[in-house]
Amino acid sequence: MKYQSQKVALYYIYGALALFAAQILFGVVAGTVYVLPNLFSEILPFNVIRMIHTNALIVWLLMGYFGAAYYLLPEECETEIHSPKLAIIQFWLFLIAAGAAVVGYIFGIHEGREFLEQPLPIKVGIVVVALMFLYNTTMTLLKGRKTAVSNVLMVALWFVALLFLFAFYNPSNLAVDKMYWWYVVHLWVEGVWELIMASILAFLMIKMTGVDREVVEKWLYVMVSLTLFTGILGTGHHYYWIGTPGYWQWIGNVFSTLEVVPFFAMVVFCFYMVWKGGRDHPNKSALLWSLGCSVMAFFGAGVWGFMHTLSSINYYTHGTQVTAAHGHLAFYGAYVMLNLAIFTYALPYLRGREPYNQQLNMWGFWITTSGMAFMTFTLTFAGVVQTHLQRVLGMNYMDVQDQVALFYWMRLGSGIAVLIGVTFIIWALVVPPRAASVRAKISQPAE
Ligand code: HEM
Ligand code: HEM
Ligand SMILES: [Fe+2]
Repeated sequence: MKYQSQKVALYYIYGALALFAAQILFGVVAGTVYVLPNLFSEILPFNVIRMIHTNALIVWLLMGYFGAAYYLLPEECETEIHSPKLAIIQFWLFLIAAGAAVVGYIFGIHEGREFLEQPLPIKVGIVVVALMFLYNTTMTLLKGRKTAVSNVLMVALWFVALLFLFAFYNPSNLAVDKMYWWYVVHLWVEGVWELIMASILAFLMIKMTGVDREVVEKWLYVMVSLTLFTGILGTGHHYYWIGTPGYWQWIGNVFSTLEVVPFFAMVVFCFYMVWKGGRDHPNKSALLWSLGCSVMAFFGAGVWGFMHTLSSINYYTHGTQVTAAHGHLAFYGAYVMLNLAIFTYALPYLRGREPYNQQLNMWGFWITTSGMAFMTFTLTFAGVVQTHLQRVLGMNYMDVQDQVALFYWMRLGSGIAVLIGVTFIIWALVVPPRAASVRAKISQPAE
């Protein structure tokens, strides 16, 4: 570790991993309630369990990006973080806001509106946290070297915060409400978060493959352009049936289909860099997570997204288990794996060790990834059967749910596999081996 202030990233990484564990636990509880509907119904209703599952996901991913930024900005900008103290205060504020939101949910205090359920004071708290972060990181960027990686990352993080402001506007007209809701939800995951993904992968490729920065930066600009060109108008794929004008049909069809291209470009980018660089980086598991991230994001977002993005198909599949299948694999492949890649890469440096527990980490990779893939398949089967029975044959919703119960049991099975895999990953990252031999004075890799 070259810069002392990078250490603040540790808070964020550990905090993110703790919330990751909670997210998966609540996912498994939600999956259990799906097959045993009366379980917990008195103490913790399904909607609350689901809310904690999805909110913990979003919060830990954001916390991970904050940590990633605090880790990589000093290296990219070749200067210390503007104020490490502010970064630590920001961390605790964020954690307290997240904790308060969860306690509120348990007592039934929330605003509905999926993903944006946080009560107003918590939303304000989130904005304060974001402002502290943006001030601190922008000051760091301004005083240091400016690279494509740090510029793209910072622009993206600014837009993450700006787009969140739409969460404050909740018009009573349901069509307008949904229109703005997607400004946050879609423009995050298929817009600015994708830029975060491209820039962090670019950073990892520079560090781990030894390919020239100039080459990586050219790719980064291509990925950024493709993302913005397709992702912004791709929002149209959510405007088919909510009461927006008819031209959204073809805009949504054309541009969201093209959204597959940037995800494919990221796969080509990662594999090409590793092939071209060929440098034998000692952190094999970080390389595995980086390559795996690009591939699984391509399948989850690209392939499973395209599967239901054409309006002629979406007319039938809208809001079925097909959507849940896609939501799981896309979030896992793109953003969960991205965070685990940078955590796996950064933690050994932050703790002054050689890359450790690589075998266990890679076992975690394969078990978790296989579990998520199997879960996606079961939900896809459930979704296809559901679509046919409910939307084509017109069967009653609850009768259809009985017909697909077997798939929900299999989803629970794969969820338990994921829980085991995630335990391996967290153990591998947090608990280093005791042996003194692995404690080492490692130097930062040159670029
Ligand atoms: C990493 C990027 C992505 C993530 C994390 C993601 C996640 C999600 C989630 C969670 C939903 C459900 C939202 C809800 O209704 O509550 C959703 C819906 C949808 N996604 Fe994605 N997505 C991504 C990329 C894509 C791409 C690239 C496409 C198209 C090629 C796509 C197509 C769709 C469509 C059509 C829906 C609406 C499904 C419906 O009508 O029920 N997504 N996505
Ligand atoms: C890192 C892994 C995971 C990610 C990224 C993730 C993500 C998500 C997302 C985005 C949603 C909302 C889906 C939508 O709106 O379409 C969701 C809902 C849900 N998840 Fe997960 N999840 C993960 C792991 C799990 C696990 C291990 C289980 C256990 C079985 C699980 C069970 C559920 C259930 C039951 C729901 C509610 C579905 C519904 O309302 O029909 N998830 N999850
Ligand atoms: Fe979308």
